[in-house]
Amino acid sequence: MPESLLIRGGRLVDPIASIDALRDIRVSGIVLEIGEHLEAMSGEQVVDANGAIVSPGFIDMHVHLREPGEPQKERIETGTQAALRGGFSAIACMPNTSPALDDPASIESLLAAVAQRAHCRVYPIAAITRRREGEELCDLDALSEAGAVAFSDDGGWTRDARVMAEAAKAAAHLEAPLISHCEPEEAAAARDLLLALVSEKRWHLAHLSTRRALEMLLAARAQGARVSAEATPHHLLCTQEGAHANGTSTRVNPPLRSEDDARALREGVRDGAIDVLASDHAPHTAEEKKEGAPGFSGLEVAVGAYAAALPDLPLSRFIALLSANPARILNLEGGTLQPGRPADVTIFRDEPWRVDASSFVSLGTCTPFDGATLPRRVVATIVGGEVRYRA
Ligand code: NCD
Repeated sequence: MPESLLIRGGRLVDPIASIDALRDIRVSGIVLEIGEHLEAMSGEQVVDANGAIVSPGFIDMHVHLREPGEPQKERIETGTQAALRGGFSAIACMPNTSPALDDPASIESLLAAVAQRAHCRVYPIAAITRRREGEELCDLDALSEAGAVAFSDDGGWTRDARVMAEAAKAAAHLEAPLISHCEPEEAAAARDLLLALVSEKRWHLAHLSTRRALEMLLAARAQGARVSAEATPHHLLCTQEGAHANGTSTRVNPPLRSEDDARALREGVRDGAIDVLASDHAPHTAEEKKEGAPGFSGLEVAVGAYAAALPDLPLSRFIALLSANPARILNLEGGTLQPGRPADVTIFRDEPWRVDASSFVSLGTCTPFDGATLPRRVVATIVGGEVRYRA
């Protein structure tokens, strides 16, 4: 267990523990104690959080780490360093790699690489079907046993309804949810919401982006479907109409939508319809972007962009959307800073900063937020009691 660390003078906001107050917090690998005035012990490392907000470590449940197979786009090292800069102590990574994360050996070898090279916690999401081709179901039990925290054919849609129904049956007894990667969005969401209703399996809708899809989600929930949903920074804040005419650099899946859709998403976050903020960090090289590859580098700007999109969102809700809720959906240990829990902590300030994508540590530098001034800035990210990033 690492030496203890005292985080002093910050506003601690932990929605699960119902705390929003000036508190000091002492951690080592786990949270040791929380108090109004904790004295530093001799030799103890102290982090001054005066004027800052101290929160359970943020979790981004939608990240493309690109390993194995596409190191020109991202690597475990760069993707997890980008996560730390963005305030994320943990990320879940998508299986649209080369080869796909579709068998236990691929999950095991990814986790072995993570143990050696990752800077933050990484939880793999496995494919639903072999090679993500939508035909042959993976061995979901074995994938879950190997460490997969959810299942998704990200990058594509599991087109055959019978295969998806079979997946819901095969995963019924597993904690790991099925993630719907809906393309085309509304037809796909309608089908998966119906399947969620009849299967009673827990589902999660990735990057929800239209008003109609949101309305369908609410209707399915009203009938008892157990479905959570996420929104990305770009769908909350950027629109087709607003996308400046810089060719392919605004290409993303799902595409940027209308101002009415973006407004509906922001309302959905405010009123609780949307459970999670997730970046869909999808880095590509500059060359690949020129050729039309869809996706943005999201980790390093996400927190600032969420705050820009949702300026009036209460802080405790902002934090729940980034910590407690993804932890609950993926059955992860984090999400709260109660004593005894893992000492994953994010410290941030409401302070404007200007995005300069050329300074990203991610290998992907395409973001619609380049040059923008964002109102919230991460100042430190702590993983298991170790300060892994400090601005
Ligand atoms: C994703 C990627 O690059 O892996 N891109 C994206 O625009 N979200 C895959 C995908 O969803 O198509």
